[in-house]
Amino acid sequence: MYSLRILGAGLAVAGILGLAACAAVSPAPSSRYPTLDGKAPLVIGHRGASGYLPEHTIEAYKRAIELGADFIEPDVVATKDSELVVRHEPNITATTDVSTRPEFASRKTTRMVDGIAETGWFTTDMTLAELKTLRAKQPMAERDQSHNGRYAVPTLREVLDLARSESARTGRTIGVYPETKHPTYHVNAGLMLEDRLLRLLAEYGYTAKNSPVIVQSFEVGNLKYLRSKTQLRLVQLIDGDGVDAQGRVTLAAPSDRPYDFTVAKDSRSFPDLLTPAGLREVKTYADGIGPWKAYLVPARQIDANNDGKPDDLNGDGVIDERDRVQLPPTSVVRDAHAAGLFVHPFTFRNEAKRLASDFRGDAAAEYRKYFEMGVDGVFSDFPDTAVAARGR
Ligand code: G3P
Ligand code: CA
Repeated sequence: MYSLRILGAGLAVAGILGLAACAAVSPAPSSRYPTLDGKAPLVIGHRGASGYLPEHTIEAYKRAIELGADFIEPDVVATKDSELVVRHEPNITATTDVSTRPEFASRKTTRMVDGIAETGWFTTDMTLAELKTLRAKQPMAERDQSHNGRYAVPTLREVLDLARSESARTGRTIGVYPETKHPTYHVNAGLMLEDRLLRLLAEYGYTAKNSPVIVQSFEVGNLKYLRSKTQLRLVQLIDGDGVDAQGRVTLAAPSDRPYDFTVAKDSRSFPDLLTPAGLREVKTYADGIGPWKAYLVPARQIDANNDGKPDDLNGDGVIDERDRVQLPPTSVVRDAHAAGLFVHPFTFRNEAKRLASDFRGDAAAEYRKYFEMGVDGVFSDFPDTAVAARGR
């Protein structure tokens, strides 16, 4: 479902990796950017321009492209009739109007997703034709709700068509950054994603390492399978559950480890993949990592009077990101680059309540900080802010 991290309720931040500081990565002499390849970091329109319009809609992707995104990011799930569609998860209760449709009332059910029982409506119980009758809605209550009920759920093919037509229209290459969502769930549903995805991408000529496509996953096994089948760039996503008072990422199922590790009784957790040895292992099957940004810069709470409660730094009566203070960056970017992996952290959001006190509500300042650290791209809900912070 929509987890606390996903909702970004300001509960997030930090790392089981020690908080050991590392020196800022120095730019290569010939480059403005201390990225792995010296090129400007990518701006990835996360679920489209999802800060402005309902996520995972053609309208949100178009807006992301208009706002300067280099890549657009579709999360990919399957329908009952094996079509690849674009939703954050198989459970579409939070992101569509399905719960208001009497014709689908009987489809409400409980399914296990990554070991967690979820109740709602699932793409895997609906045909594409049925799904196409639904309309998207904005799942974050604090964001603009005025577009709810207007936009359809796109297929991945429609997103690929959009990237192709907008590339031709704008003269820019618009990349596509699909995420295979819950690969094990889809295998168990008899709807394995990977071969379908590669076949579809191949139809568009996306088969090579330099194709404007990057495929991402929180699981490991399906990335290794993809590596055996394609030269496309692959990204290992690194998740976490929350952040403690000291700024360390906390772990809880299902965000503690790749779900295929859980199934295989492999005790390694997501942070284990971020150690130098873990990164070298990731490099054997992937080209980059997509870590939760809390793993890169921890942010701690303050308790100046030692009353056991976090201080309300901005005095608004609510404890959120604004009441955290950033610590020095971890060594993740440096270690990943040393392993030859690029780093695309998620998720950058403009709302003041999601920004550490250091930034004083200025989202551009947060991007600048991560760009100075050498990240190679950012997943952003507000691509215009990311582009402006990066500079052209
Ligand atoms: O794929 C990067 C980021 O999107 C991962 O988190 O939950 O937003 O898909 P999520
Ligand atoms: Ca994603």
